[in-house]
Amino acid sequence: MFSCTLLFGQKTTVRDIDRRVEELLAKMTLDEKIGQLTQSPGDISTGTDVSKDNLLAGIRQGRIGSVLSHTNFDNKIVMQRTAVKESRLGIPLIFGFDVIHGYKTIFPIPLAQAATWDMAAIENVERIAAAEAAADGQNWTFSPMVDVSHDPRWGRVMEGAGEDPYLGSRVGEARVRGFQGNDLSQPNTVAACTKHFAAYGFAEAGREYNTVDMSEQRLREMVLPPFEASARAGSATFMSAFQALNGVPASMDRHLLTDILRGEWGWQGMVVSDWGTFGETIVHGAATDDTDAAAKCLSAGNDMDMCSGVYERGLKNALDQGRITQKQIDDAVRRVLWLKFALGLFDDPYRYLDKKRRTETLERPEYRQASRDMAAESMVLLKNDGGVLPLTPQSPFKKIAIIGPYANSQGNKDYMSFWTLGLGVREYDSTKVVTPAQALKPALEEMGFQVTVAEVCLDATCTEKDYSVALQAAREADLVIACVGERGIDCGECRSVTSLDLPRGQETLLKVVSRGNKPTVMVLFNSRPLVFPWAAENVPAILVAWQPGFETGNALADVLTGRVNPSGKLPLTFPRHQGQVPIYYNHLNTGRPQTQMGQMWSSGYLDMPTTPAWPFGFGLSYTTFRYSDIRLNKKTMGMEETLEVSVVVTNTGSRVGEEVVQLYIRDLSADISRPVKELKGFEKIRLEPGAGREVRFLLTKKDLAYWNHEAKFKADPGKFKVFVGGNSQDVKEAEFELR
Ligand code: BGC
Repeated sequence: MFSCTLLFGQKTTVRDIDRRVEELLAKMTLDEKIGQLTQSPGDISTGTDVSKDNLLAGIRQGRIGSVLSHTNFDNKIVMQRTAVKESRLGIPLIFGFDVIHGYKTIFPIPLAQAATWDMAAIENVERIAAAEAAADGQNWTFSPMVDVSHDPRWGRVMEGAGEDPYLGSRVGEARVRGFQGNDLSQPNTVAACTKHFAAYGFAEAGREYNTVDMSEQRLREMVLPPFEASARAGSATFMSAFQALNGVPASMDRHLLTDILRGEWGWQGMVVSDWGTFGETIVHGAATDDTDAAAKCLSAGNDMDMCSGVYERGLKNALDQGRITQKQIDDAVRRVLWLKFALGLFDDPYRYLDKKRRTETLERPEYRQASRDMAAESMVLLKNDGGVLPLTPQSPFKKIAIIGPYANSQGNKDYMSFWTLGLGVREYDSTKVVTPAQALKPALEEMGFQVTVAEVCLDATCTEKDYSVALQAAREADLVIACVGERGIDCGECRSVTSLDLPRGQETLLKVVSRGNKPTVMVLFNSRPLVFPWAAENVPAILVAWQPGFETGNALADVLTGRVNPSGKLPLTFPRHQGQVPIYYNHLNTGRPQTQMGQMWSSGYLDMPTTPAWPFGFGLSYTTFRYSDIRLNKKTMGMEETLEVSVVVTNTGSRVGEEVVQLYIRDLSADISRPVKELKGFEKIRLEPGAGREVRFLLTKKDLAYWNHEAKFKADPGKFKVFVGGNSQDVKEAEFELR
């Protein structure tokens, strides 16, 4: 019944697992079943406090099926031994962990990874993250996070792939493939968990855990596609979300968890709640007590209870009262056991707890190289007036000042994020991060530049006097590299903000330093789009470096010196002002679209254009690309036919470069209003100077369909526009008709 070829390969193995699950289930008491559905926190906490007393006693009594967020390796061996040797049925534990952008080797944040638009590279870093996590005793990651969001105030945009469901789908699939490989039972793979199901990224006002209210149509088109793609890629587990969607707390949303996920998509994996959410249904006011919450959450389609204790306290009562059936409990337990079998835990419970493999696997030098490559590939060049960059021996500068709070920071998980739990939470070894001063300085010196580093305070109350060292350094230099942005610790869950301004007085720093009258390169370390109108106007070169991870300084040196030609493209729109949020490229046209600021009776603002500072898909290179006109293989496409869209892209500059060629459509004659653009394809290509390449995309009716009045995805006959370009704004366009 739980066979799923998509998930775990071989049919014969599937049948074998089914049989073993049934045999085990037949021996289990109700308490033991509830134990398998119960997940307890380990030695670090990512949520509200939960009692960790008697973890071992609970494991021994069969009351705990899974432990999450546990870092200590030896303790995991003790726990597993307790489960296997001392609990009545010897069912092994499954260890869950948030492996979000690397485990021991830290990669750029997920949003930055998405900015590469390079699915092979993303798959590769997840493969490494999985190998490290699995070697350290984890066998289940709470990733990928595929929440689409339009709101950079929400701190968790750093964990996703940005604002677009198509890009988000491709990234989600790549991550699932990277984590799980082809065979979950291999000791270097872990089970993926696609989260947070669903719509968590649309929290009102960008406030963490806040309410979401959206139409079914938007849910289907904007939110669910990456979830469906991950499910189809074989994601072994899903996590239900915290927030209420259209009034229903997501952890008791049957429409999502049962009708859509298991029903429409036919997905057969295991669903875990988010931290404590079953208990929070009571706080939401949607359940009265533990029994009610347990009944509602199980019936909705959840299997495992992460840290709320609601199943342990309420599931038996719910069964006694006839609110749920024994079969519902059994089915949930089947899914948990199935996963444990698929991971090979019954064959060898210590498969992920091999000390030798641990030593051989963690932090291998080649993993660092992958981190460096990924970080350099993810950086997005927003501005490069006068070709200030790259810095080469031919550059008209001799003396360079690297200034700013992130020139050489060694605290606050800078250049990383809160989600680097594999390093520890409060105590971690900050020397593992290569800072700009540590790598960029020597790299530039090797090229003959004289380099000084001026670190400055990071505080909104800093004055001109506090910045005098930086100003002095700027005066003595020919070029300034200003390292500004967000603290690493401010990136992640429960890190919502109301202001997207460059935080903690850093705009003042830039202004003060500009009195030195030297060209400046602003390097932004960020986890979300920020707003920096003064710099956008006055600073000639701006590089979005995101939070790049362990290899920050090296990757930055690669990009600033031109060893790597930037090719990152924004996965989220950068607004001009936070008042424009939510601002995203695939919006509806309105009946009165504004073409010029100040135009009366049009949809706009009195004080600001409607356009963003930098659009979705944007990113410059040190070379330039020319796009030919679009060629279509036909002007009229039959419903069952395929349309071929092609362009020739030519590298018109003097450096080798990579370009992300993007394909968008617009439906001009649907029964409802359709977005002004929708991404439907992309390809990253590499071109030598002067070289050109034809890039071809195929469109079918599936790409042209939308969620219609009949609650179905369907394409309407009529006119469409198709656009191809290097970002969502600067495009070539053509038209065709669907018949
Ligand atoms: C987060 C999840 C995470 C879980 C376990 C929650 O607070 O929302 O994304 O997987 O904690 O750490």
